[in-house]
Amino acid sequence: MAALTYHLTTFGCQMNEHDSERIDGLLESLGYSPAAGPDEADLILLNTCSIRESADRRLATQLGNAKRFKAARPGVVVGVGGCWAQSLKQEVFERYPFVDVAFGPGQVDQLGEFLLADSIEAQGYFEFDGFTADLPMRAVQSAQAWMQISVGCNQKCSYCIVPSTRGLEVSRPFNDLVAEAKVLVARGAREITLLGQNVNSYGRDLRPDRRTFSELLTAVDAVDGLDRLRYTSPHPQDMGAEVVAAHVALPSLCEHIHLPLQSGSSRILKAMRRTYDRERYLGRVAMIRDAVPDISLTTDIIVGFPGETEEDFQQTLDLVSEVQFDAAYTFIYSARRDTEAALITEGVVPAELASERIGRLIELVQENAELRAQRFVGRSVEVLVEGPSRTDPDRVRGRTRHNKPVNFSGLAKAGELVDVEIESATSTSLRGHATMLASALR
Ligand code: SAH
Ligand code: SF4
Ligand code: F3S
Repeated sequence: MAALTYHLTTFGCQMNEHDSERIDGLLESLGYSPAAGPDEADLILLNTCSIRESADRRLATQLGNAKRFKAARPGVVVGVGGCWAQSLKQEVFERYPFVDVAFGPGQVDQLGEFLLADSIEAQGYFEFDGFTADLPMRAVQSAQAWMQISVGCNQKCSYCIVPSTRGLEVSRPFNDLVAEAKVLVARGAREITLLGQNVNSYGRDLRPDRRTFSELLTAVDAVDGLDRLRYTSPHPQDMGAEVVAAHVALPSLCEHIHLPLQSGSSRILKAMRRTYDRERYLGRVAMIRDAVPDISLTTDIIVGFPGETEEDFQQTLDLVSEVQFDAAYTFIYSARRDTEAALITEGVVPAELASERIGRLIELVQENAELRAQRFVGRSVEVLVEGPSRTDPDRVRGRTRHNKPVNFSGLAKAGELVDVEIESATSTSLRGHATMLASALR
């Protein structure tokens, strides 16, 4: 019998992408190999997200396809994991009876148990039993690796579905993380990104020894052979002086911070339950820029939160002009089930107005990003190579420590560190030519 094949589609954030890598590793260890497409796979998996309505819509299309493939080949097994599955729980099976297995975020091991069970019948796995650390790792490790340092979120942002899909925050043990970082580096990782919904509240729940996020940064930075360390996302509330000091002190910690803003209006921030106001956010930015003037700052912004007036929105625009982010992800507010904001009936921003606002915001964000990117022109920057350029096969693609994508001319393989002289910059990427192999100097 030919070996079983699988096809996995991933939606949502890096945490889901990371879970998907773990699913790949698990399935490889069970003897599955990747199928060319979902129509050929014995096992069709969807790792789902529910952060906005658009995510639900994309998923509905994929579920429809899976249903068709299964109708054509009845032996096919369909599984859905991740946040959407978690938020619907048993309803998944009622609404989509062709689904064989559903599991929540992080419960990748449960998928394994299901696949190994004697009889395959629909079962859900929806307890928050944390993060299963010791799954087989994927065979191919790229130079960039993710490491999830906590699961869940203790914040109560009124618009957000995550606390109800990922549960309360649980930090993974400090020593496990340092050990995992060593394994990742031994397997070829040069860059590690620490993942969590609120990474800088890491360690407060650890008993008997509480640990801090900056202690974790220090310990991972000390791992021999690690060139770059990143993290996402920190919460402005917990972005303290020690974390900023770590950016100055730790050689591997990159010159980039993603600091989600959400709104520039203190009134809206309060309604969002973000626990900081406009001034406090600006204070954090000032503290960061004092310590590392050249740092790249990126952010997330929601427009059209219920009650947002033109004046509130103007405050967001003003703050964006003042801070000059290197990039910003912008979203139109989307009401989510089981969230506090979904119950607000007053001041709902009509869709047309919200999309007009986001258009204005994006224009400003792009102007700033392009302006900010000019500071790299003429500079020589270190690039971690990812592979051939997607648009021009004669060029090479990589990323700077400031997290800017670069396309450059020169010869370099994925995983190498190269010095690149920057010739030009747009709002989204840099262009240049390689000068020498930085890694050759080590
Ligand atoms: N834990 C991170 C990221 C959460 S999800 C943080 O707190 O920043 C990523 C982004 O999606 C959020 O920062 C927010 O900007 C956006 N988002 C979350 N829920 C949303 C909703 N209901 N509607 C629109 N955007 C949303
Ligand atoms: Fe959601 Fe807020 Fe937690 Fe981020 S910090 S995951 S936006 S509740
Ligand atoms: Fe989506 Fe869950 Fe991440 S809702 S954004 S996959 S935490």
